Amino acid sequence: MDAYLNNIKECAEFIRKSFVNIPKTAVILGTGLGKLADDIKEQNIINYSDIPNFPVSTVEGHSGRLILGKLGEHPILAMQGRFHFYEGYDMKMVTFPIRVMHELGIKRLFVSNAAGGMNPNFAIGDLMVIKDHINLFPEHPLRGRNIEEHGVRFPDMSDAYPPYLIEKAFSIAEKEGIKLQCGVYVGTQGPTFETPAEYKYFRIIGGDAVGMSTVPEVIVARHCGIEIFAMSVITDLGVEGIVEKCSHEDVQRAAEKAQPKMTQIMKQLITID
Ligand code: HPA
Repeated sequence: MDAYLNNIKECAEFIRKSFVNIPKTAVILGTGLGKLADDIKEQNIINYSDIPNFPVSTVEGHSGRLILGKLGEHPILAMQGRFHFYEGYDMKMVTFPIRVMHELGIKRLFVSNAAGGMNPNFAIGDLMVIKDHINLFPEHPLRGRNIEEHGVRFPDMSDAYPPYLIEKAFSIAEKEGIKLQCGVYVGTQGPTFETPAEYKYFRIIGGDAVGMSTVPEVIVARHCGIEIFAMSVITDLGVEGIVEKCSHEDVQRAAEKAQPKMTQIMKQLITID
């Protein structure tokens, strides 16, 4: 068997042995969602470093743990810490956890991230539901031999972000009085933030926000039939004329502020049937 596939299966087997009930729903606790972990009841935790073949996260502000538990009455698997291309992982490793989720039988995946907003109607601290993406990563996660067991060679991407989950998010936001934006996420490799000309270019090609994650995970999830819902916290602006200096700390500070709104929406959305 293919070594990569073998590693996925071995990893899934280990997780299956560690957790009794594997849920159908998973969440990647990206920027803006870290506190959701506090709401997970009956927690069972495994450190990434203890899971065979699992990559280990290196970026500041992200720990590396798998949490299994319940959100309300809803069993979920949460990834605390994800793998970015800019950390040096190749795309097969960045998306390894998604393959493991598929192997475990996960059907729906919720993802968050931080992003710079190019849409002039956006403000720092806004939440943007991702309705589509533009993949500008220099390596494709599906490059190489296709594993038929995972999905088809040429996957359709016309409905990568199912509209019914987006509509549900908007109805939750309306009920809670939370302002939600909706837009196209441009996925880039980072780790630099954009130059003013790059933000302008991403706007011209149809982007509303830009970030360094999510797209590879969405592609792989779509490939293996896992439904996705993804949301960005707008942590800085790349709007022509108002591009300001941006640091990792600025991003974290803005995300911290938006966190309660993001958590509120995700919590309710995750627990729908
Ligand atoms: N660009 C890329 N990634 C980001 C940004 C940005 O402006 N903000 C947060 N993540």
